[in-house]
Amino acid sequence: MNIEPISPDFAARVTDIDLSQPLSDEATVEIEQAIARFAVLIFPDQPLTDDQHAAFTRRFGPIDKGLLLGSKRKPRLSNSDVIDLANVDADGNVLPAANIRNVSLIANQFWHSDSSFKSPPAKYSILCGMDLPDQGGQTEFADQRAAYDDLSDDMKATIDGMVAEHWAYHSRNMLGGGGYSEAEMAALPAVHWPIVHTISESGRKSLFVGIHTREIDGMITPEARMLLHDLLEHATQRKFVYRHEWQNNDVLMWDNQSTLHRGRAYDLNQLRELRRCTTEVVLDEAG
Ligand code: OGA
Ligand code: MN
Repeated sequence: MNIEPISPDFAARVTDIDLSQPLSDEATVEIEQAIARFAVLIFPDQPLTDDQHAAFTRRFGPIDKGLLLGSKRKPRLSNSDVIDLANVDADGNVLPAANIRNVSLIANQFWHSDSSFKSPPAKYSILCGMDLPDQGGQTEFADQRAAYDDLSDDMKATIDGMVAEHWAYHSRNMLGGGGYSEAEMAALPAVHWPIVHTISESGRKSLFVGIHTREIDGMITPEARMLLHDLLEHATQRKFVYRHEWQNNDVLMWDNQSTLHRGRAYDLNQLRELRRCTTEVVLDEAG
């Protein structure tokens, strides 16, 4: 395969590989080494079936099922390892803008790390862009290792050892609520992760904040929210961001422990069809 950096340590284009075919051990290791360095990999022109998508993903770890989008909806895809991120109903028609499922889809436009609200959280996300709108709907990634390195020594000392609470429904509530019952919300309680962690594959330190973080252990809520807000503002400066302009059949792979990402707005009346398959962190490796 050919690996072409977009910047020296963040985002690379990978060509001369066919992701629809079973991945050799050598190719798996090469991809793992590339993502340890670049954190985001772009594989252009890789049309995949759901089964091929899931098989490729399973090479990198156990599958994470995420938070089922719009829990009352019958799944449209037959492979339950693949998360449907299309703004369509079961028959493939674009949803009315006011459909409740758009709350969860629009929540993806906040900076976040997939499944950081779960234990274990997500490691690699592998997103297939099948049908993208002409305007808007890009996906952006922010390098959280570079963001950590760029903090002042004072701020590094301040946040050293701090633990934040991550909650799945914080982002939905920010958008006015996603129609979840108290029982559904209670079924996925908040989890706690260090604000700074070390990525085992690269040895680099990385920030771990985002829209799912809503408290810091041992701190009053307003002070915690403001510190989390300041950290997120720092962490998502344009100098840390790669913006992906989609072509249909691009496949993106990123490390959720080293990056934040977000979608950008688009016309909700236009089809936007993406499917994601995700691996979990193997917890004793993450420490
Ligand atoms: C995701 C996600 C952003 C987008 O797939 O996890 O957040 O651009 N996607 O749809
Ligand atoms: Mn996401």
